[in-house]
Amino acid sequence: MLRRLHHEQPAAFEFTPANLAWAKAQITKYPEGRQASAIIALLWRAQEQEGWLSRPAIEHVADMLGMAHIRALEVASFYFMFQLQPVGSVANIQICGTTSCMICGAEDLVAVCREKIAATPHTLSPDGKFSWEEVECLGSCTNAPMAQIGKDYYEDLTAARLGEIIDELAAGTVPVPGPQNGRYASEPLSGLTSLKEFESGRHQYNASVQLAVDFGDTVKRIDGTEAPLTGRGHAKVSKPAQKPANGKTAPKAPPAKPAPAGKPKKPRSLKAPRKSGADDLKLIKGVGPKLEALLNSLGFYHFDQVANWNAAELSWVDDNLEGFKGRASRDSWIDQAKLLAAGGETEFSARARKGK
Ligand code: FES
Repeated sequence: MLRRLHHEQPAAFEFTPANLAWAKAQITKYPEGRQASAIIALLWRAQEQEGWLSRPAIEHVADMLGMAHIRALEVASFYFMFQLQPVGSVANIQICGTTSCMICGAEDLVAVCREKIAATPHTLSPDGKFSWEEVECLGSCTNAPMAQIGKDYYEDLTAARLGEIIDELAAGTVPVPGPQNGRYASEPLSGLTSLKEFESGRHQYNASVQLAVDFGDTVKRIDGTEAPLTGRGHAKVSKPAQKPANGKTAPKAPPAKPAPAGKPKKPRSLKAPRKSGADDLKLIKGVGPKLEALLNSLGFYHFDQVANWNAAELSWVDDNLEGFKGRASRDSWIDQAKLLAAGGETEFSARARKGK
């Protein structure tokens, strides 16, 4: 597969302040003159923040590490884990298509993605929320067929269950990762044949799933303010699952769900800017001249208008950004607009005002 930069690129890239601090800390791990060794970590954090690696992001990381831009591009284009094109604002679904999964139904899962997301991989769904791709073995072969969605694995999938998972994600909930057929981990489908004495004292989920549920960041974009790995989740110890009378694994409790966005709804708009004049919406990262004109044509001229969109309104705006679907949520316009409306600055807006 040809891996090259996407034809449409954002104007600039900045790490969030917390991600920037994290990135600088990574660089200090390496001796003077060897800062380039941090390239994978920094590119990965840039991707975790934005969902994919744009040219400005790759060049920004190269500049931080004192590398030629082409060297950073070589790394980004070599590893398939780096996405060189925009991914869905909710999730990029990675279907394992290697032997075990293929034998157990991976092609049916791909068919679901083709039907529900896009006919071809690495293509955004019409609403911009999803993309998909086929990947090589993800090391979960005993639970084939499986898919990685965001940071976690969904295993023992069927086409019907994958369809439900996509629908749940679209509605703003994150299904519990792990086996989807009632299996606890990778034990035989007929149940444990040994070590049965540990069955009654185990936690509700297997360790990987428990950690995913505790972190709650399966499809979340990372802005660096998340609790560090060692401090997250480990303090929360779930009660062991109650063993039902029939000896089977207890059904999973539903995960903590964020409020669903609801049906998209057009936000209140203005016929013209207020007398004070329109705000420069280009100070919001992700809004260029084309998008500013589009927003104005939709009746949005001011930071406080953007700052006050609720989830259903954000969804409507995402859907109506012709050619840029999903960007409003992908680039966290509301958070940026809140700061700007309050008279503050984002790192991006401060640089933009200085003409950098
Ligand atoms: S073959 Fe799919 S996880 Fe290994």
